[in-house]
Amino acid sequence: MSNFTTIAPKYQQTATLQKSASEHLLDMLAISRTDDVLDLGCGTGHITQAIRLQTDGFVVGIDPSEGMIVEARCNFGQNVAFHVGSAEGLNMPGQFDAIFCNSAFQWFRQPSLAVSNCHAALRTGGRIAVQAPARSNYCPNFVRATESLKHDCHTQQTFAHFHAPWFFLETAQDYSNIFTTVGLRVLMSEIEDITQHCSPAKAFEIFESGAAAGYLNPDCYDIDLPSGYISIARELIARSFHAQVESDGQVELTFSRIYLLARKP
Ligand SMILES: C[S@@+](CC[C@H](N)C(=O)[O-])C[C@H]1O[C@@H](n2cnc3c(N)ncnc32)[C@H](O)[C@@H]1O
Repeated sequence: MSNFTTIAPKYQQTATLQKSASEHLLDMLAISRTDDVLDLGCGTGHITQAIRLQTDGFVVGIDPSEGMIVEARCNFGQNVAFHVGSAEGLNMPGQFDAIFCNSAFQWFRQPSLAVSNCHAALRTGGRIAVQAPARSNYCPNFVRATESLKHDCHTQQTFAHFHAPWFFLETAQDYSNIFTTVGLRVLMSEIEDITQHCSPAKAFEIFESGAAAGYLNPDCYDIDLPSGYISIARELIARSFHAQVESDGQVELTFSRIYLLARKP
């Protein structure tokens, strides 16, 4: 089975796509040497550590997955305060100049409450930068791979009981509205399509670093999973990535991503 705690031990090596997206997001946030910064949904903390190097201020990483926080504390705990907690439970009013949120926003169960908590956590003039997969067809390759679970006779009945844990909005304006509603001023909001070419094995590794925590997570089904379901589903998804290779033997992996920067007036 997959959830962020089972993914955590390998996350830092496999999450190459999240890492590359984070570099642009860090540039957008333009952290100064005195900023106090929150990394919301920090995962294993390797990007929090990159934030740590940009400021002499206070740096905090928060994530609801205990496994992710165990990894983060083990690797970077000397330099950064890591806490188990969700964006919806965030209660640190006026403590930050900047909030960084990379590849986690889509997992928020109550995005409006989470963004309202971020508004409260920022000082006047503080900024929040968010990057997340966007649009229901956020990655046509993953959508196609999981379609195979709908059609295979070994998985179709069980997959009918899957409930997606994440949310995707269709336009940059839809994302902006969540931020403006709580009183933040959106400075930039754009959905970008990013393509990379990789082997089918790498595509599967990228799938396992995030999407698997939904599609292959028993908590996302409203029935008990029959024994063997997860391994058959994994096999079908891996096979689909092999079927998606182009003539050069590579998968053209495309992601739509929202990049948003907002300020507290
Ligand atoms: C794909 S990982 C991204 C981790 C890290 N930010 C990165 O870019 O590598 C998504 C993270 O979001 C966290 N997450 C899920 N729901 C959350 C919530 N409600 N509040 C904050 N973080 C959440 C997960 O536990 C997971 O560690």
